[in-house]
Amino acid sequence: MDARSGERIVVKSPEEIVLLRAACRVVAEVLAELRSAIAPGVTTLELDRLAEAGARRRGAEPAFKGYHGYPASLCASVNEEVVHGIPSAARVLRVGDVIGLDFGVVLDGFYGDAAITVPVGRVSEEARRLLEVTSEALAAAVEEARPDRRVGDLGAAVQRCAERHGFSVVRDFVGHGIGRRLHEPPQIPNFGTPGTGPRLRAGMALAIEPMVNAGGFEVDTRDDGWTAYTVDGGLSAHFEHTVLITEKGPEILTLTPDASSGAPGGTG
Ligand code: MF3
Ligand code: CO
Repeated sequence: MDARSGERIVVKSPEEIVLLRAACRVVAEVLAELRSAIAPGVTTLELDRLAEAGARRRGAEPAFKGYHGYPASLCASVNEEVVHGIPSAARVLRVGDVIGLDFGVVLDGFYGDAAITVPVGRVSEEARRLLEVTSEALAAAVEEARPDRRVGDLGAAVQRCAERHGFSVVRDFVGHGIGRRLHEPPQIPNFGTPGTGPRLRAGMALAIEPMVNAGGFEVDTRDDGWTAYTVDGGLSAHFEHTVLITEKGPEILTLTPDASSGAPGGTG
């Protein structure tokens, strides 16, 4: 989120892409495990433990722990929480909740980063639609991740999709380039004007991460210094993929090989 502007966007070599793919695969596999662990009565701290163990079992390290002082491995953001929810033994999932799971690892010097938002049991029609539209908005942005497109094309695609369905896009957090650092240039807002911003090239890797609110776009941060929540109390959803731009188009690096296992954003 603090990808420095002005700096060049890194184009990865074929050797670097091999390592990036491996890191991203770990993220996808762990998120698939977390998704199947979601049930009423589970605490977000239990999910954090699972996430960290899943990374380490695969030889990777959780990327968020200690990042700017972040105290956990996973971001677990429930209902009106937008992003950066800190896992806690006191946060018990209930039927009807929606939970955003944002996870990243570093493996052999390369970062992978992805997020999904998952329903807990049966959820409201509004919640169901919000998840569907946010995942669709991510898919629309991924479609724009091609050589010669511009960063503004990605944000415009997210915004068009969200607002067409009466939802709003969060302004305060953005997607980012990714590679040897979790956050590299460019910043990728979830709103924008087509045909503007830095030009995309094959070999660039982007973490594209729409955050969509059912109500207004305004967010604030809790006293814990991290948890972002909607000011109007409305629901929020977050989906993220790490995507490689290739000559042939976007390659989603954080999809699980078995799409039926509930990998992030296979639908939409
Ligand atoms: N996916 C988020 C991001 O790209 C996760 C960062 S959480 C932090 O910024 F704790 F590491 F900051
Ligand atoms: Co990210």
